Amino acid sequence: MSKRMWGGRFAEEPNAILEEINASIDFDRHLYAHDIAGSKAHASMLAKQGIIGAEDAKKIIQGLDTILSEIERGEFKFSRALEDIHTHIEARLEELIGPAAGRLHTARSRNDQVATDLRLFIREAIDRLDQSIAELQLALAEKALAHAGTVMPGFTHLQPAQPVTFGHHLLAYVEMLARDRGRLEDARKRLNECPLGAAALAGTSFPIDREATAEALGFDRPAANSLDAVSDRDFVLETLAAVSICAIHLSRFAEEIVIWASPAFGFIRLSDRFTTGSSIMPQKRNPDAAELVRAKIGRIVGALMQIIVVMKGLPLAYAKDLQEDKEGTFDALSTLSLLIAATIGMVRDLEPDEKRMKAAAGEGYATATDLADWLVRQLGMPFREAHRIAGEIVARAAKARLPLHRLPLSEMQAIEPRITEEVFSILSIPHSVKSRTSFGGTTPLNVRAQARKWLKRLAKERKGG
Ligand code: ARG
Repeated sequence: MSKRMWGGRFAEEPNAILEEINASIDFDRHLYAHDIAGSKAHASMLAKQGIIGAEDAKKIIQGLDTILSEIERGEFKFSRALEDIHTHIEARLEELIGPAAGRLHTARSRNDQVATDLRLFIREAIDRLDQSIAELQLALAEKALAHAGTVMPGFTHLQPAQPVTFGHHLLAYVEMLARDRGRLEDARKRLNECPLGAAALAGTSFPIDREATAEALGFDRPAANSLDAVSDRDFVLETLAAVSICAIHLSRFAEEIVIWASPAFGFIRLSDRFTTGSSIMPQKRNPDAAELVRAKIGRIVGALMQIIVVMKGLPLAYAKDLQEDKEGTFDALSTLSLLIAATIGMVRDLEPDEKRMKAAAGEGYATATDLADWLVRQLGMPFREAHRIAGEIVARAAKARLPLHRLPLSEMQAIEPRITEEVFSILSIPHSVKSRTSFGGTTPLNVRAQARKWLKRLAKERKGG
């Protein structure tokens, strides 16, 4: 007799290839703790409802606890022939407590069981991600406060645009990460409904208490439709979409680190802890960690795409296709954790070269907009005209190979005679950033206030406020 749960009507053993394609134990073993938690809640409920005896429930629960510690100590034997984690645990339970084990599966199916396990797993992963993203925000906000007044070129099209501060740039990522956390939190809210008790697809004829199991497992409520409960994987898609967006943000930051750390830019320096050397070129300091953060998003988005394709056109309710919802998900979730950890490390490690950044901020006529704004403000010119005149002055300076603030007044007056000496006061880089006082702008005053706001908020969160 085979140990297969469904062995009853089968006379022959499965073909080896079926066994190989069917088995999910290599990856769904990660669900062991959630599966055991779900089974314990189910067994207690069954006993409370008088569906199984209290003695049997006690044995089941003790047996499940034994299995949990066996798995955690690495003493549990996994085998492909037992298909998945649910079968493994039930088979071992039978070895441990005998026939009472067979009562555990009353009024449930692996379909509602696995849907419950995966929701529990993802919920836990979201909570952990939330904490580590908050830690990254903290690292960024701390660095931003330290560099609220450190000027650098702000870019559009990767061309010097207007001077900004390094702190301002870092805080942009704090905002993105806040939205990432919001998306994950939102996904968590929607996934927090309990499928347990939906059974195979239609519910059960036993007088179960779905509210009780939902509550015991920390769900907000039982899922209202049994067909939906066993076949929905929106929660996987939604979580992976949020995870992908977060990975996009990290990859953008990683790309900036790669650019900034390149000697051609020389804006930041990463220590030996976050760079590697080349086996042939002795001078190299390669930003491998940043490059891998930039690249590993491929597998995360790959997991999202994979599950989108699995779900598309899948008829209700459960189909074995749904077993393909796990491997990529587990990988995407643990990969994002790693990317966050690596990014936290790099943020703490990197040191900006303030001199180089300031010099670069002055290159490329980054204060041309300040000049145009001055013409508008002082001479009452329409902005379009001021833009044209500032452009002509930039062209003249470029021809003379001079920065704007070194171009003689007479040269400027040749283009617009009303320009006065006063213009030079607004052409400096520090003045430029200081003048951007509009809400959300780059003035160090704003940046400092924003960084402090985030630090306060994150500290409060940590204390559970
Ligand atoms: N290993 C399966 C999965 O992950 C468990 C559910 C099996 N259900 C079934 N009807 N064969 O989806």
